[in-house]
Amino acid sequence: MNSVTATQRPLRKAVLPVAGFGTRVLPATKAIPKEMLPVFDRPAIQYVVDEALAAGIEHIVFVTGRNKGAIEDYFDHAYELELTLAQKNKNALVDELKSFLRPAGSMSFVRQQAALGLGHAVWCARDIIGDEPFAVMLPDMLMMAKPSCLAQMVEAYNKVGGNVIAVEPTDTPEQYGVIAPVSRDGRLIKMKGMVEKPKREDAPSNLFISGRYILQPEIFELLASQSPGAGNEIQLTDSMVRLMETQSFHALEYEGRTYDCGDKIGYLRANAAYALASEEFGDKAAATLQAALATASRS
Ligand code: G1P
Repeated sequence: MNSVTATQRPLRKAVLPVAGFGTRVLPATKAIPKEMLPVFDRPAIQYVVDEALAAGIEHIVFVTGRNKGAIEDYFDHAYELELTLAQKNKNALVDELKSFLRPAGSMSFVRQQAALGLGHAVWCARDIIGDEPFAVMLPDMLMMAKPSCLAQMVEAYNKVGGNVIAVEPTDTPEQYGVIAPVSRDGRLIKMKGMVEKPKREDAPSNLFISGRYILQPEIFELLASQSPGAGNEIQLTDSMVRLMETQSFHALEYEGRTYDCGDKIGYLRANAAYALASEEFGDKAAATLQAALATASRS
């Protein structure tokens, strides 16, 4: 459990909304959940779960939907596979497969029955979260950071409490939620507002909400009554704006880099970045990518 001041409740649970169709990366996601697409050598979702665990999260709530069963299977035993590998003395592989299984009961899966927006997806986790603070981690967004992005946020949360969201500069604020900053103390930013998918000329800053949140459970009441906003969806950002009226809210410009795997080029960029960052394969990946570029430019 994380160390916290007397007034703060510890952060133990994380919500991972995984119900989306992944329309921007079709046809790759026609029959496979987008969260299961590999980023270099493992499914994208694995990086996000690892980030959660590295920040001390004990229970993960997946908000899932139809055709997402592969995610549940991935975090369970694969008995036939494990047995077959063991019979072939491939014990290192068996150990690797078992290494990311969590203790029984520490992952929950709830269905979002209709695609009504991110705010609605988070609200679907309310019974499992109960009356305690929780993290929201958007699995499209991979954060390459040391310590992990959520770990940096937990450190900030342990100092300031309330609600903390991760932000990062962007050239395309119109694609995201954007904050209106007031002042900053190092990487910690006080805000006066947030807006979901502003027109480029109306964006209050270039700092976008990058997909990691630490929220207090009072957000659930607000989500329950939230009317649809941008894109006619129930937006988490809109309820956060209302929560700001009564609770402390900070943004953290975390140290690291976000890879948005939600579209084809972002996904390509993430694959290259994680291959290059691999301890085992980084050098070979660099040589391979350079050779591929040289060949491509010759043709
Ligand atoms: C969501 C959030 C947005 C955030 C973005 C990060 O938007 O609503 O505030 O900036 O994730 O990826 P979506 O990508 O679901 O449209």
